[in-house]
Amino acid sequence: MRPLKIAPSLLAADFAHLADDVARVANDVEWLHVDAMDGHYVPNLSIGPPVVASLRKATDLYLDCHLMVSDPGSLLAMFADAGADGITVHVEVGDTDALLGRIRDLGCKVGLTLEPSTALDAVLPFIDRIDTLLVMSVKTGFGGQAFIPEVLDKVRAARRIIDDRGLACEIEIDGGVKATNAGDCAGAGVDVIVAGTAIFGAADPAAAAREIRQHAQASRP
Ligand code: DX5
Ligand code: ZN
Repeated sequence: MRPLKIAPSLLAADFAHLADDVARVANDVEWLHVDAMDGHYVPNLSIGPPVVASLRKATDLYLDCHLMVSDPGSLLAMFADAGADGITVHVEVGDTDALLGRIRDLGCKVGLTLEPSTALDAVLPFIDRIDTLLVMSVKTGFGGQAFIPEVLDKVRAARRIIDDRGLACEIEIDGGVKATNAGDCAGAGVDVIVAGTAIFGAADPAAAAREIRQHAQASRP
């Protein structure tokens, strides 16, 4: 079985003290989830390649860049040059075949994601050529929203397909995840758990990450 990974979402960190917040969780997590928003695909603006470049100097952790942007093609090289380890694009923006190929060519891990309202069928044609399938458990745009439990059906279905075909793709979940539902996520077949508010909103982010891991680990199939 793939090792469980915890990926704190920096969207919930203090942008004026990012390196400090990263240092607080660094010993207890495998990835950092970097939410890039363009104010167009989603009605919110966040961070982009210059911040990824600064993070790259501050940490060796895997930088998992989630592009909530309408035109990811114009940004892929900038994210790769800045030091992204993985780049995830939304199937909803289209041109998926070409985008995934370009991410691969740039030497990054290839991620594909879908909104809660999008059926799993939309990503299945690409499932054998991606490293990460990111299942959104909130509508993209903002941190701190409530987890949508119905998306776990998609996780279960994806898990079956990936296992039946012996694919390497990891399943990641993002949005509203906390200690109380991390077990359900892991039980459904999630490998990578993103959590923003539940980690950086806690008084002790490292302890919060450990607690999420404990609940998830205990429920893994
Ligand atoms: C939502 C982002 C998520 C979000 C997670 O648009 O992609 O990564 O920040 O934050 P929480 O865990 O607070 O829902
Ligand atoms: Zn995200």
